[in-house]
Amino acid sequence: MKKRCTFAIISHPDAGKTTVTEKLLWFGGVVRSQDGMVKSKSGNFAKSDWMELEQQRGISITSSVMSFEYCNRAMHLLDTPGHKDFSEDTYRTLTAVESVLMMIDSAKGVETQTIKLMEVCRLRDTPIITFMNKFDRDSLDPFELLDNIEKILNIQCVPMTWPIGHGLDFRGVYDLVTKKIRSFKDSENPLEPFEMDASDLDHPDVVNFIGPVLKEKLQADLEMVDSLLPTLKMDEYLAGIQTPVFFGSALRNFGVKEVLDMFEANAPTPRARKAKLPPYDMNAEERIIEPTEDKFTGFVFKIQANMDKKHRDRVAFMRVCSGKFTRNAKIFHVRSEKEMKIATPLIFQARDRDIVEEAFPGDIIGLHDTGKFQIGDTFTEGEKIQYTGIPSFAPEIFMKPILKDPMKAKHMEKGLQQLSEEGATQLFVRTSNNEKMLGAVGALQFDVVKFRLEDEYNVHATYEPAPFVGVRWLKFTDKKVEEKFRDAYSSYIMIDGKNRLCFAVRTEWDLKLAMEKNPDVSFYMNSDYIEKHH
Ligand code: G4P
Repeated sequence: MKKRCTFAIISHPDAGKTTVTEKLLWFGGVVRSQDGMVKSKSGNFAKSDWMELEQQRGISITSSVMSFEYCNRAMHLLDTPGHKDFSEDTYRTLTAVESVLMMIDSAKGVETQTIKLMEVCRLRDTPIITFMNKFDRDSLDPFELLDNIEKILNIQCVPMTWPIGHGLDFRGVYDLVTKKIRSFKDSENPLEPFEMDASDLDHPDVVNFIGPVLKEKLQADLEMVDSLLPTLKMDEYLAGIQTPVFFGSALRNFGVKEVLDMFEANAPTPRARKAKLPPYDMNAEERIIEPTEDKFTGFVFKIQANMDKKHRDRVAFMRVCSGKFTRNAKIFHVRSEKEMKIATPLIFQARDRDIVEEAFPGDIIGLHDTGKFQIGDTFTEGEKIQYTGIPSFAPEIFMKPILKDPMKAKHMEKGLQQLSEEGATQLFVRTSNNEKMLGAVGALQFDVVKFRLEDEYNVHATYEPAPFVGVRWLKFTDKKVEEKFRDAYSSYIMIDGKNRLCFAVRTEWDLKLAMEKNPDVSFYMNSDYIEKHH
């Protein structure tokens, strides 16, 4: 059986994520075009961007999964939205991968969204491979780029290739391991790029090929690389301390294969994961589940609707963590404590989908969802465990949906419920007056909900800003403390989509006062009760 390689791409919007995704799929035999020079926005090619709204805005707003085989590995590529308003979605996607490809626009260096996404990778020490993209355009000096990454992202860069020139003068890359030059301009076939031995940079063929000026620069650069930069240590890469760095152009499919080869050879196989035992709360005991365990376990990290407009369907993406998943075999849905059979588990290849008979640790499969599943749901062969690490984050913006047509109240309720289960926004209910409140980390999330409520549920609503700036998830030392607190702060209490009690924050000052007055109550920054508010 092929070893699994489950990874995601992170980048600032426009750094080239869509473009590189197409090329990776092309190498995986998914996008069948002659030269891999596929235009993404209009053709019917592999494209991780499905939704209409996204096409209108030209940004990536939902993640998706693409599976393909490459040499000895079965690859699962998970797309992540680049836009900051959807960082929760990205966080959840990153819980399901073992490694990450970071794309950098070489003219710009590290950009804001990359910093945010990198922080998320840090939380889990995810190993990262870096691709410096767009070298066919004017770019920053490679040393400046590496320095930029090291300083801002605090990760040690180890170049695997070195660029020769950039923009119109981009000649290709020097492979630091094989000491060969791979030509940019003469490499018409991305599978077999034109190569030239460059172990002696003074050889007339080399000087002729790249010209004396670039040769001088390359020689000086390589001396600096040799004396200043570290070599790759596999354990440091796997611990997220070092990142191997490649240079190239995704658009021209140059340097991408090297990246994929690196993933194929070195990216980690499925790792052990933590799960909580009943009662699954913050004090619950944990168990480490090894991917080699016999019994099947997995968890849902994403729910996506409308992947195929024709089918109007909703798919829950499940990551298999241990054992073997078998189509039509009974599996145990831990939250509802019910057994179920999955008759049509799906595997995704760009726009196509197939039914899979079995799946193994590291695999991502899609389950048709009629509303039964939620993000974070765990599946087993009967054991009661709950995979950890898929929290909700405190929203910072709140809106109260107001129906234009009161007859549609039921539709709206259903729509809001389903959209919040998908993680599009979070839904809260104020316990004092039953008022529904949508909470989001980024304003675009509301646009998505508005659009989808209209498009899919035929519900037209207006949105009124609510006077809250955050929520904190609450824990009490005992029931009495809880009752007293709920009485005193009734207009501040909300429950989230999973019936957890929250404190609605109107101002930081309010929160501070409530905390000071109630030392027996803990206020948490996220729904997994990981980080306390101080
Ligand atoms: P994203 O998913 O990270 O947002 O980026 P995407 O791949 O959509 O790329 C953003 C723009 O950058 C696109 O141009 C794309 O063609 C271009 N691009 C990506 N990689 C390279 C590269 O290696 N070299 C050069 N020169 N350009 C690159 P666009 O004009 O916005 O879109 P399109 O009309 O070309 O599709």
